[in-house]
Amino acid sequence: MAKSRPLKESELDRLAELARLARKNAYAPYSRFKVGAAVLAASGQIYDGCNVENASYGLSICAERTAVAKAVSAGDRKIIAIAIAAGGRRPSPPCGMCRQVLSEFADPSIPVRLVTERDKGETVRLEELLPRPFDKRFF
Ligand code: THU
Repeated sequence: MAKSRPLKESELDRLAELARLARKNAYAPYSRFKVGAAVLAASGQIYDGCNVENASYGLSICAERTAVAKAVSAGDRKIIAIAIAAGGRRPSPPCGMCRQVLSEFADPSIPVRLVTERDKGETVRLEELLPRPFDKRFF
């Protein structure tokens, strides 16, 4: 897969701000843990998402997968960055399922910006979060 283009810090800041805004729409009456995400596609389009819970808990979907599904369903299959905004004092990394789903549509080197409502947080690479993804080369 082609290498992602280098991203400016200001682009990641903007993505983080959009993730914070998306977090406001989170539907999380059961866990009360609201999460927002924003993915930047290679096309330049940004897609946001929030977690959407369900009374049947296992049907809940994370913010990251909501955003990825929005990108892919709009025809954007190459994600070059993601920002994730969570509540709490520390930035929260994506769950394992979301790491795997992201890796389907993103180069391992893409930046993953993790922020809270207040602080700038940190930026890690997807490959640090998921060093050995399962992918189509294995079957
Ligand atoms: N959640 C996310 O939206 N993203 C993650 O990566 C971790 C967890 C949501 C799922 C659930 O609605 C709530 O946070 C508590 O697990």
